[in-house]
Amino acid sequence: MYVLGISCFYHDSSAALLKDGKVVAAAQEERFTRKKHDVSFPKNAIDYCLKSQNITIKDVDYIGFYEKPFLKFERLLYQHLAKFPFSYKPFLALLPSWFNEKLRMIKLITKKLKYRKDIFFLHHHMSHAAGSFLLSPFQKAAILTVDGVGEWTTTAYGVGEDTNIELIKEIKFPSSLGLLYSTITAYLGFKVNNSEYKVMGLSAYGNMNKKTNHYYYKLKKVIDIKEDGSYRLDMKYFSFHYSGKMPSRRLSKLLDGDIRKPNSEITKKHKDIAAALQLITEEVMIKMLNHLYKVTKCDNLVVSGGVGLNSVFNGKILKNTPFKNFWSQPDPGDGGTSLGVAAYIYYTLLDNKRKEVLGDAYLGPEFPEEEIKEFLEENEIKYTKFVNESEIVRETAKLIHKNNVVGWFQGRMEWGPRALGARSILSNATNPKMQEILNLKVKHREKFRPFAPVVCADDAFKYFDCNNVLPLPTDFMLLVYPIRKQYHKKIPSVTHVDGSGRLQTIRKTQNKLYYDLIEQFGKLSGIPILINTSFNIRGEPIVCTPYDAYKCMMGTGIDFLIMGKFLINRKDNPQDMWDSEKQAKD
Ligand SMILES: [Fe+2]
Repeated sequence: MYVLGISCFYHDSSAALLKDGKVVAAAQEERFTRKKHDVSFPKNAIDYCLKSQNITIKDVDYIGFYEKPFLKFERLLYQHLAKFPFSYKPFLALLPSWFNEKLRMIKLITKKLKYRKDIFFLHHHMSHAAGSFLLSPFQKAAILTVDGVGEWTTTAYGVGEDTNIELIKEIKFPSSLGLLYSTITAYLGFKVNNSEYKVMGLSAYGNMNKKTNHYYYKLKKVIDIKEDGSYRLDMKYFSFHYSGKMPSRRLSKLLDGDIRKPNSEITKKHKDIAAALQLITEEVMIKMLNHLYKVTKCDNLVVSGGVGLNSVFNGKILKNTPFKNFWSQPDPGDGGTSLGVAAYIYYTLLDNKRKEVLGDAYLGPEFPEEEIKEFLEENEIKYTKFVNESEIVRETAKLIHKNNVVGWFQGRMEWGPRALGARSILSNATNPKMQEILNLKVKHREKFRPFAPVVCADDAFKYFDCNNVLPLPTDFMLLVYPIRKQYHKKIPSVTHVDGSGRLQTIRKTQNKLYYDLIEQFGKLSGIPILINTSFNIRGEPIVCTPYDAYKCMMGTGIDFLIMGKFLINRKDNPQDMWDSEKQAKD
């Protein structure tokens, strides 16, 4: 039985395919269209899912859509009426897309896919909940979903047992922790629904002491937090409910000045505001999770929704709440909801026995050796070929140890926003200059953002203070942990200003080649940790095909590209086809 999940028209469109309950393919549309956070109908992602199984749409038994468009439109209508006439212009601008596409989803899916069977629509937050719980290792778990907004809901919690999910409490729009985070992201001059993670990274530079950060007290005025973690925003500080601009004038006044202009200087004030926001987010989440534990008495927790990508907070969950185990799928944000609705149909609606635990994120397209070779030869790209995997490991480790920046293109592309060793740029974490080199050669990103380390799971405790428990989502780079003090100076490029690192752990069973490479690098350098950053330049989606990878390499300062068994040396090939620095976006 095939079940296809679809998510689109908000942000991060995606498709996911289940075969007899097993996740066999999943990908975000942006990887195919090369448009970051692409919201369009995920035709390419769907085609990929079907092609990966050699099937056509006729073989699909059920299609699920990740939210209920009519309920969402009801909320938009309510927003508009409540704030008329201020909301008139933005509401009018929305109408064509709603009447032409979003309110006609059945017709649209039927037409685009030539699909004649029923289509199932699931609540947005239930899609989030299902995507994490039903594919988790837990038979029973407390569930928390927190994001910007779905139809009406912005936060929900409940419990999952076997194939049933019950959401017992929800907080509704306009109160939203996700939208508070996005509003401050906008205030700090970053791009909403894209750069929230930058604000999270910036918070480490600010004053994380509640007592002395006066922006913490200022920001507390905009949100009323109850003991059980439920909260309410004071809407006079916001304008997202009736205009495209998120912070209101009153918020700017409260925070001592206008919205920061993009690319202008980031001052101590901006850093302290980021820190205050992170403190408040953590305060709400910890209170809510403590309450959720009281209500459910369950040791297992799954978290999803965009706020589930707050890896700084995720790393603190087990330390600050009574929960003993934590899980999240590789894509807890809206991109992951296509997987959620597909899992809900197969397990909850059709009541099939649970059997699938999502153990890795390698669910995207792969390119066989012949196809890569064909691409290289057709384009007259000079290459050499490794004889076997041991040679790939040995030689790549040497290249990285000699401080080369290596594009690593192996196997199936990752599902979710993180590069996890299939489409990664790898480099030497022990070189103190590597952060600078990477920024100069490839990433062109803000200096305050550190790079992420990858370590074999067995070595994680030696280098990171993981609080004696290593939750499985560490494999998906979803948690930040303190790096043990004695290693701060040994791996400076991956050590954030507060001594933390957003680590990825890797197990041999997930990706042997990648695991062996890190181990081999450890033999050369003494420390089995690499810098793992996504294979893209700033503002571009992660590469998907050999063409994307080669183009990214030739437009940047990546020194070597290892694509399957093929080694491409940048110096052996024509110079830049395009200037990546000019292309770098937010
Ligand atoms: Fe969401």
